[in-house]
Amino acid sequence: MRNILVTSALPYANGHIHLGHLVEYIQTDIWARFQRLRGNRAIYICADDTHGTAIMIRAADEGRTEHELIAEMSESHQNDFAGFDINFDHYGSTNSEANKETCIEIWDSLNESGMVVKKEIEQLYDTEKGMFLADRMVRGKCPTCNASDQPGDNCSKCGETYSPKDLIDPISTLSGTTPETRKAEHLFVQIEQLHSFLDEWTQSGTLPPESANYLKNYFLNDELKDWDISRPSPYFGFEIPDSPGNYWYVWFDAPIGYIASTKEWCDRESEKIEDWWKSETTEIHHFIGKDIQYFHTLFWPAMLKSSPYSLPNKIHIHGFLTVDGEKMAKSKGTFIQASTFLKHLNPSALRYYYASRLSSKVEDIDLNLEDFRMKVNTDLIGKVINLASRSAKFISKTGLSSTYPDDGGLFKEAAEMSESIAENYENGDFSHAMRKIIELADKANPFVENSAPWELNKDPGKQDELQDVCTIALNLFRQLVIYLTPVLPSISEKTEELFGEKITSWEQAKTPLTGIKINKFKHMMARIDIKDVESMTEESKENNKGEASKSGWNDSPEPLKDEPLAEEINFDDFMKPDLRVARIVEANEVPEARKLIQLTLSLGGDERRNVFAGIKSAYNPDDLVGRLVIMVANLAPRKMKFGVSEGMVIASGPGGKDVFLISPDEGSLPGQRVH
Ligand code: 2FM
Ligand code: ZN
Repeated sequence: MRNILVTSALPYANGHIHLGHLVEYIQTDIWARFQRLRGNRAIYICADDTHGTAIMIRAADEGRTEHELIAEMSESHQNDFAGFDINFDHYGSTNSEANKETCIEIWDSLNESGMVVKKEIEQLYDTEKGMFLADRMVRGKCPTCNASDQPGDNCSKCGETYSPKDLIDPISTLSGTTPETRKAEHLFVQIEQLHSFLDEWTQSGTLPPESANYLKNYFLNDELKDWDISRPSPYFGFEIPDSPGNYWYVWFDAPIGYIASTKEWCDRESEKIEDWWKSETTEIHHFIGKDIQYFHTLFWPAMLKSSPYSLPNKIHIHGFLTVDGEKMAKSKGTFIQASTFLKHLNPSALRYYYASRLSSKVEDIDLNLEDFRMKVNTDLIGKVINLASRSAKFISKTGLSSTYPDDGGLFKEAAEMSESIAENYENGDFSHAMRKIIELADKANPFVENSAPWELNKDPGKQDELQDVCTIALNLFRQLVIYLTPVLPSISEKTEELFGEKITSWEQAKTPLTGIKINKFKHMMARIDIKDVESMTEESKENNKGEASKSGWNDSPEPLKDEPLAEEINFDDFMKPDLRVARIVEANEVPEARKLIQLTLSLGGDERRNVFAGIKSAYNPDDLVGRLVIMVANLAPRKMKFGVSEGMVIASGPGGKDVFLISPDEGSLPGQRVH
């Protein structure tokens, strides 16, 4: 029996859980349930991530304390998770005594190993709000390409990274005033001291190969920068004991929350933390999204290295969620909160659909709403649940036959798949596991069709045959449910009720049940009606309208506040940029660049342009090929680290995930000028 500690990333307490979050929590929950069904000891630990400036500012805006805000959010998060059958062994908070103590412990060991240094840095200070500004709280013109309204850490236009004080004409997003530069002392962790350890650890099978390969290059070329882990007051977090007036940056105490939340569970369950975080034999598995890889593959192991706690054995990394092939969009109603989904649809449907899409690769998954509806109706209802609903009612009086009848080898064949399906689950390859299970259902259904229990039922002379047919159909059904138990715990429970037998072990799929009574079949799951999907997206649109503005168009209430209109130009100025319609004919990742995608643009005929666009956090290269965009075609070529960029594509949005390429309407052709 393995001892396994499983975690998901701790969700921020400043927002509600949405379908994007749920990819990870459902994935982790399935994996933890699978481990338990296999007879392993697995605990699933999580907590709210409660500290940082965003929470502090929101609480102030709402006129309440941070503690009130995080208590309310914790309850809401836990309700949402429970609604999706996500079953934590413990759900804590990073704002806890246990976390504070553990932070101090890890801090002490970092200090003892000589990894902490003090440095004076210059930072932008909002004199009206009386606080230093985090990178994302400053906007201004990019110091490299002059693009306006860029955030304080990197430019969404040219991809350059810089510090907020390098911005031209910076503006505080908190007060709209011009911040001033002030000096402050910060504490840094010298990660570079662990360069060779981290290099080795990240290549030791702990990460998916894509991530490990990426880091291999990174370690070859780059010195690891010192990590700034303190923030000056005011800050909502833990004050650093040996540095009064300074607080640990939220990303320092957040992962420590994994340990602290486990400690709380240990106290409750009379377990020992030593057996979970200080044991050679316990496996620690973190599930995270690709956007927070750095924190978990560099900073977190660096924090743990000198501490008495274990390093994780595996970091499982997933991609982002798209809905109908695009980023979740509030205006389209595809930014769907967990609670909105639950009002309209069955959580098992989403669990099944995500399982059918998830692989062990670090790739984005798409929730295509029509495919979702069809797949749930066809696979789950049509192929699995139907096996039971069409046969259980005929043997409510007789029960199952006393010996398992000849089924032509169906049960045995499915039992022999047991290890191969288990291997898929173990590797996080849930989509393969689902495919194999549905293939088994595809073999079981013709048996029921051909045996037609509903016909046998009409013939008093065929009651024994009827009992045998239903015994087979119900056993094949139960076998599939056992394989699906990690994904569909509530269907599994209903199956337990039907048979009056608990499902506690994967091994149960190898032995058919015989000679027992069958309880009355109760409805297990309704088909998804297209109207329910539509009302869910409608409600999501409505929710967001209310939140964003009163105009009904979901537009920003103060569109020009962050970026006032530029000074007036004449017609000749307007004609200077030569904007052209272009088609993206090729799009590639630039592995060494965090922000960039390399695009080959066609202006029609053989005219091609090579452009590096800072859109990696918003788009998948594969989704871009074939699409029309607008490019600035007469911009002087610019030499970048990775090649020459021969123009720029036009996009709107503040940057990061919120970048929106501008496309012309259907009918326009590559090469055409945009006036
Ligand atoms: O990215 C996020 O949502 C963070 N709140 C995740 C924290 S994970 C862990 F390190 F705490
Ligand atoms: Zn720029």
